[in-house]
Amino acid sequence: MLPSTAAAALAPGLVAFWLVFRRSTPTDSDSEQISLHSLRKKLPKDLTDWRTHTRYITSWNHLRRFLAGYGYKLWSFDPLSPSTPGILVPPGREYGSPSGFLYAPSQIIPRSPLSPQEDKSLSPFAQGLVPGPELGSSRIAIPRRILWPARHDHGDVVIRVLSVDGDGLRPLKILRQIATAPEALNRSNHTLPLLREIVLEDIILGVFPRVTASLAEVFVPSNVSYVAEMDMLEIFVQCLEALDFLHQNLIAHLNVTFDNFLVDFPPFSHPEARPLTGKSRVYITNLDRAISFIPSTPISERYCLGEYFFLHYPQEGQEKPEPAKETFLARKRALENAQESHKEQVAIQKVFKLKPPELVDIRSRFSPFSVDCWQFASGVLSLEPETSGDVVQPGFTLMEPVHEIFRTMASEDPTCRPSASDALTSLQNILYPA
Ligand SMILES: *[C@@H]1O[C@H](CO)[C@@H](O)[C@H](O)[C@H]1NC(C)=O
Ligand SMILES: *[C@@H]1O[C@H](CO)[C@@H](O)[C@H](O)[C@H]1NC(C)=O
Ligand SMILES: *[C@@H]1O[C@H](CO)[C@@H](O)[C@H](O)[C@H]1NC(C)=O
Ligand SMILES: *[C@@H]1O[C@H](CO)[C@@H](O)[C@H](O)[C@H]1NC(C)=O
Repeated sequence: MLPSTAAAALAPGLVAFWLVFRRSTPTDSDSEQISLHSLRKKLPKDLTDWRTHTRYITSWNHLRRFLAGYGYKLWSFDPLSPSTPGILVPPGREYGSPSGFLYAPSQIIPRSPLSPQEDKSLSPFAQGLVPGPELGSSRIAIPRRILWPARHDHGDVVIRVLSVDGDGLRPLKILRQIATAPEALNRSNHTLPLLREIVLEDIILGVFPRVTASLAEVFVPSNVSYVAEMDMLEIFVQCLEALDFLHQNLIAHLNVTFDNFLVDFPPFSHPEARPLTGKSRVYITNLDRAISFIPSTPISERYCLGEYFFLHYPQEGQEKPEPAKETFLARKRALENAQESHKEQVAIQKVFKLKPPELVDIRSRFSPFSVDCWQFASGVLSLEPETSGDVVQPGFTLMEPVHEIFRTMASEDPTCRPSASDALTSLQNILYPA
């Protein structure tokens, strides 16, 4: 049976409106219906608009009261605050209630072996340890258009705009299939759970747990020496398990970057110092680009056309900066844009890097599953040290057999790439030899 929100999504418009009105308003008063309607009018007209328009911060501010009605207090943004310029600030304490998805930064991590002698005063135990990196609060605190953090009695969450005016229903359907119970309880399923859907007329917002860090934050090349090799490989095993699970359910993600893998705590164990015990769990998120096939689709037809890929990689947030005017509003806008401009440049590189070689033009026929494999393997290989001229950039050297798995997974020829399942088995055989 479909949840009622599903029915609303399938017939956006009147049904959605009626459901929202009926379900979310304690007193069925006309004035509330009218105020929801006028709230809707203030918000972006479609998903693309929300992803690209410069005033998304204003949109989230409009939603503040509506979401408070559901118990979600949006973090606040003060672009001109002297202490935290352009940073989102949680209401109240730094951390919300425990949710099982977010852990405060580990206090200590092993010092790198080249540590200088300056700490002779410390006990022998403390000499090898330095404060852990500040993960968890920094990245989420930068406003990200369709995502906004909020505080709930049961812990911090991230609210994501999933669908507007019917757009975005494809990934939402996939989320409903794999990110809600019972499937979410499957151990090999690493999809970040969708806790709740909130409907506002034709807009569907998804509530997801806020997770400590993304792998993009953990695998910073200059930090990699802090991550033990075994930890890193175990993380890769979980990533492959996440992809394998999606692929077994005939879902391809199509935006497989370290940004879209989250961990509840970063694996900073180290054999020479007191390790953090317990294994971190990896979650895969952002199914905005995902595509699924119904089980009856013959294997020969589980393909997409280049059109799909190129159509769904809009150059996000590339609107021209507005001419600077010295008004409060202009400064606020300029700041809103500046927040994203650095990320845009990174994103542009990533879009380029996400495009596998078999995708030549809109007519290229491609297997989305082998594109996922290529994207992931390319990401892993990009962690390896790079030599430009005489300078060796910091990085993480994979042991040869592991390197070989990812190298074949990133083959130019998609038919040479092992599936996520085969790569998972090969990696497990290396890590845990019989
Ligand atoms: C996978 O896990 C998610 C999140 O926990 C859950 O919502 C979803 O139903 C699961 N899907 C499958 C196919 O097990
Ligand atoms: C968990 O998911 C896998 C892969 O889809 C499936 O083979 C297995 O049967 C599932 N287990 C349960 C208990 O549903
Ligand atoms: C990890 O990388 C981040 C970003 O480059 C940096 O701010 C942080 O200090 C690094 N942490 C360690 C322990 O090197
Ligand atoms: C891919 O995921 C990243 C990180 O979540 C996101 O910033 C980017 O916009 C996504 N790309 C596309 C084309 O959706």
